[in-house]
Amino acid sequence: MAVIFSFFLIFGFLSLESSEATDTLLPNQTIIDNGENLVSLGQNFELGFFSPWNSSNRYVGIWFKNISPQTVVWVANRNSPLTDSSGSLSIAATGNIFIVGNQSTIPIWSSNSSTPNNFVLQLLDTGNLVVKDAESSSFFWQSFDHPCDTIIPGMKFGWNLLTNQSWFLTSWKSLEDPSIGEYNHKLEIQGLPQFVIRRGSDIVYRSGPWDGNRFGLLQVEEKTVTNSFFIVNSTFVYYSFEDKGDRISRYVLNQSGSSQLLTWNAWRGEWIAIFTLQRDQCDEYGFCGPYGLCNVNMEPHCRCLSGFDPKIPRDWNTFDWFGGCIPRTPLNCSKDNGYGFKKFSMLKLPDNSRLWSNRTDMTQTDCNQACLRNCSCVAYAITDVCRCVMWFGSLLDMREYNKGGNDLYVKMDASELGSESKARWGTLIITVPAVLGVLLLGSISYYLITGYKRRKVKRENDPDQDVQPTMGEEEVDLPSFDLVAIATATNDFSVENKVGEGGFGHVYKGVLPTGKEIAVKRLAKDSGQGLQELKNEVIFIAKLQHRNLVRLLGCCIHQDEKMLVYEYMPNRSLDLYLFNQTCGVSLDWQKRFDIIVGIARGLLYLHRDSRLRIIHRDLKASNILLDSEMNPRISDFGLARMFRGDQSEASTKRVVGTYGYMPPEYAIDGLFSVKSDVFSFGVLVLEIISGKRNRGFYHPDHDLNLIGHASNLWNEDQALQLVDVLIEKSIVKSEVLRCIQVGLLCVQERSEDRPSMSSVLLMLDSEQLPLPQPKQPGFYTGRITNESNSSSIRGQTQSRNEVTITMLQGR
Ligand SMILES: *[C@@H]1O[C@H](CO)[C@@H](O)[C@H](O)[C@H]1NC(C)=O
Ligand SMILES: *[C@@H]1O[C@H](CO)[C@@H](O)[C@H](O)[C@H]1NC(C)=O
Ligand SMILES: *[C@@H]1O[C@H](CO)[C@@H](O)[C@H](O)[C@H]1NC(C)=O
Ligand SMILES: *[C@@H]1O[C@H](CO)[C@@H](O)[C@H](O)[C@H]1NC(C)=O
Ligand SMILES: *[C@@H]1O[C@H](CO)[C@@H](O)[C@H](O)[C@H]1NC(C)=O
Ligand SMILES: *[C@@H]1O[C@H](CO)[C@@H](O)[C@H](O)[C@H]1NC(C)=O
Ligand SMILES: *[C@@H]1O[C@H](CO)[C@@H](O)[C@H](O)[C@H]1NC(C)=O
Ligand SMILES: *[C@@H]1O[C@H](CO)[C@@H](O)[C@H](O)[C@H]1NC(C)=O
Ligand SMILES: *[C@@H]1O[C@H](CO)[C@@H](O)[C@H](O)[C@H]1NC(C)=O
Ligand SMILES: *[C@@H]1O[C@H](CO)[C@@H](O)[C@H](O)[C@H]1NC(C)=O
Repeated sequence: MAVIFSFFLIFGFLSLESSEATDTLLPNQTIIDNGENLVSLGQNFELGFFSPWNSSNRYVGIWFKNISPQTVVWVANRNSPLTDSSGSLSIAATGNIFIVGNQSTIPIWSSNSSTPNNFVLQLLDTGNLVVKDAESSSFFWQSFDHPCDTIIPGMKFGWNLLTNQSWFLTSWKSLEDPSIGEYNHKLEIQGLPQFVIRRGSDIVYRSGPWDGNRFGLLQVEEKTVTNSFFIVNSTFVYYSFEDKGDRISRYVLNQSGSSQLLTWNAWRGEWIAIFTLQRDQCDEYGFCGPYGLCNVNMEPHCRCLSGFDPKIPRDWNTFDWFGGCIPRTPLNCSKDNGYGFKKFSMLKLPDNSRLWSNRTDMTQTDCNQACLRNCSCVAYAITDVCRCVMWFGSLLDMREYNKGGNDLYVKMDASELGSESKARWGTLIITVPAVLGVLLLGSISYYLITGYKRRKVKRENDPDQDVQPTMGEEEVDLPSFDLVAIATATNDFSVENKVGEGGFGHVYKGVLPTGKEIAVKRLAKDSGQGLQELKNEVIFIAKLQHRNLVRLLGCCIHQDEKMLVYEYMPNRSLDLYLFNQTCGVSLDWQKRFDIIVGIARGLLYLHRDSRLRIIHRDLKASNILLDSEMNPRISDFGLARMFRGDQSEASTKRVVGTYGYMPPEYAIDGLFSVKSDVFSFGVLVLEIISGKRNRGFYHPDHDLNLIGHASNLWNEDQALQLVDVLIEKSIVKSEVLRCIQVGLLCVQERSEDRPSMSSVLLMLDSEQLPLPQPKQPGFYTGRITNESNSSSIRGQTQSRNEVTITMLQGR
């Protein structure tokens, strides 16, 4: 046997055994399944046999050499596993790469590549396995042309129009089975290019079309870890990306059809999701039916385009949107000039666009006329990539953004055009017994909590399938406390038990008969605005669980008495330790650093990890409570506004928050986004480091607030002067400087420049990550006469304290 085997080695395929790790395989050489691998020159990638998690099948794949757990980016024989470790990989003299099993001569997989030339098989440092000309660098075959479920930098995702070749992703069947699963993710190029994820042949997600600048409102977070680009010319239409610096990222379509950009955090030893394509219900394909418009910021999310009415009002009223809408006045083509167009703005353009003409000089009037003349044209849009785009048939899968998006001109009967008719929202019909509803502040919020439970969305294929709702699918287990019990626990809301004052009322400490300590937030009876905030709090907080958030234990509503019961935080709030130095206790640097990281985690959870995207809107030191171990817990979501998914920015008539923590775009325009919280977080970081309030900051030499002061010190390379004298001894300079830099990045004037909370955590986590230089901060000098630190409201319901703010032009 041994003799035969060596004979085979000498005269047949030469094994790589015992040779140094190499990145090339010559014709007639072979790799067998005993740990022989190809390793790329710079040690980035490795190719060899592997078994997926929990499986004993053997596959040939490529994975990151230095990342553990093993992360496979490409599999050769994904549909034809070897059941034992008898396999070998070789490249034939013809240039064909193939894998054979035990004794067999019939390959279980082959690349079908062929070349007449002198060639080698090489694993490049990009992770690309290529059959290349031995002399030049031209490729005869490359694994990058045959993606599995992953895109790594350098791979293309799209089309080669000359060869009609498509690069697309197909999910694995399961974690243990890399064979082609249910989902595929392609760039579709009929009409405007757009990314589509399908389950089998059914669309489950659509990015929104490429308009020459972006896809729908594709995430900006992406840009923080990668440089991505989209190429459109007569040869190619594709998306690709590069890693930024030495950060390693990959883009994966997982087994349940979720498409994510992940980045490796060496410090934490795990892949971190930077974003997921599907983010909310409005990303469910066709969620609101034909002519329906989805907006995650509205409850309910669906409404008809103005000029349209629900097709089946009964379904629509029970949150079954699938039937969509129909024109209020049907179009009549034989009626001359009987119709025109209504413009809708900031939309994700509907599916099934048709490019009308490749002329780049088509004006809007030309496009308008072309659509008017064709009876079956229902809408048109003007985009950068193709001037005139039209739609025939019904308009499906539209959503409304609060910023960005495209204009769409929808054809309708003249009678609908004159009046700027308001959009018609689906009416809420409360049919459920309102027992809990009465208990909870009225039936609307009850319906919001439980209404979705009954919602069924009918899909053509499986008419009765229950669609997984994204909110309220579980019982909201929110105990209702008895007023008498609360009064007893708080000693009749005695002054001694009062521990604080939030935006909308007082907070009392209480002790239940069981000995459990609670904090009761009692809403001021006269606060007209309190009710809405309370509703928000009840609905939102009940669902949130994170170790850096304060838990809501229940509520108590009795006539006009409204209270929320939280777990009690024995160490009160952060401001007492930072600004009130008479407290006697100071927090050393390590503790302060932990608090910064804890707040960042809590905020990231609100922004991204919790199923509902939540913007706090009133993050400040007094809203950071400390538990018995001095861990930070974010509190007071009374102003939080439910955000789901794409809704990255919204505007509000009521500016709610605390001066000193508000970013300029919010204080001035009422625009808020996750980046508003990032701004407040930045202020908080600077306050934690300096022990000084941003508002009310005073410096003998200038008139700047803390942010301006910090920014000046930073630019003069004197940033350490910012540090609180009480912690000077305990600081770790590099850590403090990094935190100051992160703080200044967070308070940059332009919200686009501010990092997302996930980037903030990455920056805080890793010592190596190079940070950008902070640009101009956005700041106010708040010389406000009323020095109270309570939350302010302006707008609709004018608060009693008139506040004047001055915007400082930075230099
Ligand atoms: C590869 O092997 C085949 C048959 O075993 C032989 O004819 C051919 O010359 C070999 N090629 C090289 C490059 O060694
Ligand atoms: C992994 O394999 C073990 C043993 O076959 C099995 O008990 C377990 O359920 C598997 N885990 C998963 C998640 O499939
Ligand atoms: C592979 O070869 C070994 C040794 O010849 C044998 O024991 C084993 O059963 C073979 N496996 C298969 C799948 O043929
Ligand atoms: C190579 O060709 C065979 C036979 O046509 C086919 O079954 C196989 O899928 C091809 N392999 C690849 C990687 O395309
Ligand atoms: C390109 O390939 C698709 C299927 O992959 C086919 O339907 C289409 O006709 C091809 N187009 C051309 C121009 O070859
Ligand atoms: C298309 O873009 C690719 C990538 O930038 C470039 O290499 C190629 O030359 C371009 N082709 C044409 C015809 O412009
Ligand atoms: C796919 O990714 C989504 C989003 O992160 C996650 O919720 C889901 O559990 C993942 N599915 C699998 C099978 O890992
Ligand atoms: C369409 O308009 C024409 C001309 O005004 C009229 O005769 C016809 O009845 C209309 N059709 C419908 C369905 O309203
Ligand atoms: C643009 O349209 C003209 C005629 O309308 C056609 O001749 C030409 O080939 C088109 N160009 C491309 C790039 O499709
Ligand atoms: C309207 O446009 C459609 C789609 O391009 C086309 O099939 C139809 O012939 C056009 N009708 C008229 C009247 O131009």
